Amino acid sequence: MVESDLQVLFDSDRIQQRVFELARNISRDYAGGSLHLVGVLRGAYPFTRDLSKSLLIPHTVDFISVASYGDGTESSGEIQLRRKLGHPVKGRDVLIVDDIIDTGTTLSWLVDHVQPLAPRSIRTCCLLDKPARRQFPVSTNYLGFPIDDLFVVGYGLDYQEKYRELPYISWVSPRTVVT
Ligand code: IMP
Ligand code: MG
Repeated sequence: MVESDLQVLFDSDRIQQRVFELARNISRDYAGGSLHLVGVLRGAYPFTRDLSKSLLIPHTVDFISVASYGDGTESSGEIQLRRKLGHPVKGRDVLIVDDIIDTGTTLSWLVDHVQPLAPRSIRTCCLLDKPARRQFPVSTNYLGFPIDDLFVVGYGLDYQEKYRELPYISWVSPRTVVT
């Protein structure tokens, strides 16, 4: 795949504007609370960083790493915990921050993982959502953009570990995706 096969879906300005709007809503909803962001590595790293920078209220940030995808564009369906949480979440208002909901496997696994750790509340914030692909009945409390059933890269999202560093989100034309 070469860069010319990438079609820009959301440019950097559009992403930053939407992150700013989400941060404003989250700041309003959690004012006076005990907000604790849990970013999902590696895909949600840029989103978590930008969201944290834009929040107007005190909060803490941690990361968890899980894997469900092989090298292709389809989920293996099984989640593996690669890096556990670094800080206790007991009594905290946990906001799980992920890059994209596809089948919903990852997000529902994460909520089930955090729930027994006795947070005060759990909500989710995802930058992108592909509702057409859903297999688990999960939705997100805060959403950046709904998208069609496209494979996307950039702003943390990868195809075979490439393109995470792009400041924009592109979709990959199907003929160039080799699974
Ligand atoms: P789910 O468990 O099927 O909902 O998949 C969620 C995870 O799959 C995301 O956190 C991404 O890491 C990955 N993923 C799903 N769709 C895409 C995509 O279009 N591009 C890159 N990664 C994706
Ligand atoms: Mg991910």
